[in-house]
Amino acid sequence: EILIFTTVASYREWRRKAFVENKSVGFVPTMGALHEGHLGLVRKSLSENDLTVLSIFVNPAQFAPHEDLATYPRTLEHDLQVLAQQHAIVSNTNMNLDSRSNLICSTTSNSHSDSIKRPSAVFLPSVSEMYPYGISQEANQQRGTFVEVKGYGDEQMEGKSRPGFFRGVATVVTKLFNVIQPTNAYFGQKDIQQALLLRRMVADLLLSHPSPENLHIVPTARDPIDNLALSSRNAYLSPFGRKVAPTLYNALKAAEHCWSINKSKRECVEAARGVIQQRIQGEKGTDVEMKLDYVEMNNAGDFEILEDHVTREARGKDASTVIISGAMWINGTRLIDNLLLGG
Ligand code: PAJ
Repeated sequence: EILIFTTVASYREWRRKAFVENKSVGFVPTMGALHEGHLGLVRKSLSENDLTVLSIFVNPAQFAPHEDLATYPRTLEHDLQVLAQQHAIVSNTNMNLDSRSNLICSTTSNSHSDSIKRPSAVFLPSVSEMYPYGISQEANQQRGTFVEVKGYGDEQMEGKSRPGFFRGVATVVTKLFNVIQPTNAYFGQKDIQQALLLRRMVADLLLSHPSPENLHIVPTARDPIDNLALSSRNAYLSPFGRKVAPTLYNALKAAEHCWSINKSKRECVEAARGVIQQRIQGEKGTDVEMKLDYVEMNNAGDFEILEDHVTREARGKDASTVIISGAMWINGTRLIDNLLLGG
């Protein structure tokens, strides 16, 4: 039985009990339209916590006025159904996780051998519950309190392509953390810039629920056949659009190879762009319209963009992980993806 809380007050009562009983609470924030990517986060939370809470809230503050707030997929019944099917048999084995990067934490579950757990609660607030004084999508008409993480990618890549987006995300996640009071929180590598920015926010604001080290980043779940990163927005794609969508992943893989053989950042970005441009040419005259938004390489530590001439060897063995990320449009649908390049 999954509990559903639609108000802050009712959730808080439940959370108080968990505090008293000293139970850990894992938290997976989402905007719904759940797919295997979300469910992977849920299963990880189940295996590492006594209780697991998932939130579904399509946050108006992170959609610009021209974006897809109204049409964003809302599939509540399906979401609750697939959630009820999730369970984890918890034992003391190590989680099998991408170990190439220390960004992606791997923790050992340490209790409840062989017990089966299901998600405990879903937090499903209305817009007025989350924004009691209302919220405008027009940034210049917004009043009240917002959280902004400066100089941490807020004006690069996703931040540049979607002004106001990270401010909306940081604000709503702060609110959600204040309500849910999670011991651990789980985010996807799929949105790596979001996850790292939020980890920085949690550290900057001295939050304890979660603490920065308890904000976990889980590897991207992909289509098993063509490696397309799973996303709620994939539902917008036509069958032809879906077929070309893995181009972004293939482009990032080309850059990864380029980096591994010690080419410069500029050459690697060019390699990725080349893969996408070639596919765009190939689709000319068809119904599929593709457009590259950006390909960029950043230092994961501080999110600074790498300089053009930098190579893997020049950065040295101890340098932090490099993120190569990209975004592209397919017929009005915007897709993002990234890879972490170790060492
Ligand atoms: P949403 O896009 O619903 O994603 C919720 C969480 O699922 C995010 O942490 C995201 O990175 C993760 N996720 C999505 N696709 C994934 C995939 N293929 N593999 C692994 N994880 C994946 O991100 C948001 O919602 C919102 O911005 C939110 C944080 C909820 C704030 O409104």
